[in-house]
Amino acid sequence: MKFFADTAEIKEIAELAEMGLLDGVTTNPSLIAKSGRDFKEVVAEICQLVEGPVSAEVIALDCAGMLAQAKDLTAIADNVAIKVPLTWEGLKACRALSDQGTMVNVTLCFNANQALLAAKAGAAFISPFIGRLDDMGIDGMEVIEEIRAIYDNYGFTTEILAASIRSANHVKFAAMAGADVATVPPSVLQGLVKHPLTDKGLEGFMADWKKTGQSL
Ligand code: E4P
Repeated sequence: MKFFADTAEIKEIAELAEMGLLDGVTTNPSLIAKSGRDFKEVVAEICQLVEGPVSAEVIALDCAGMLAQAKDLTAIADNVAIKVPLTWEGLKACRALSDQGTMVNVTLCFNANQALLAAKAGAAFISPFIGRLDDMGIDGMEVIEEIRAIYDNYGFTTEILAASIRSANHVKFAAMAGADVATVPPSVLQGLVKHPLTDKGLEGFMADWKKTGQSL
């Protein structure tokens, strides 16, 4: 499974990239607002740190506007993936951008039929929002499973990018359901390493090592 960082915070991205953990980055307007930084500047900095796809989201709601904004954003770096919303206009833009060789991440996906449309429109990535579905009492993981089955039935190459991930369990179950990518907030990604028995075991080893009186 590929890991993307779901953040616009350069410091967090730099640390994960240095560890070789990052296959890409996703941003959205809310993450840019949270960073307090200039959108294009942040995207340019991220693209220097990460070789894989860096999603930058258009703000226009009509296809022509989306294409104009995508032109500006793709000029920043070769690894910019354009994020478009899962609307009729977004799908038109997806088709046009994909035809010209631009990676498109279709975002705000909440069911399998939407994902089928995105694949038909040539999307490189489809982003089902697991956490937001769970918040509504709908099993987000079931949507990932349905998309996986449909894409496999017809050989679609669109990658399933599990988004709106809130917990370590979301990452595990998305991996089990066959998502190609998980885009994860860095705090959640760091949480994957945690287990109380690891901490307890390490504490025991440290205490016993101290008893040996040796140094290394
Ligand atoms: C990423 O591409 C999405 O925009 C992001 O995962 C949404 O997460 P949220 O539901 O926590 O805002």
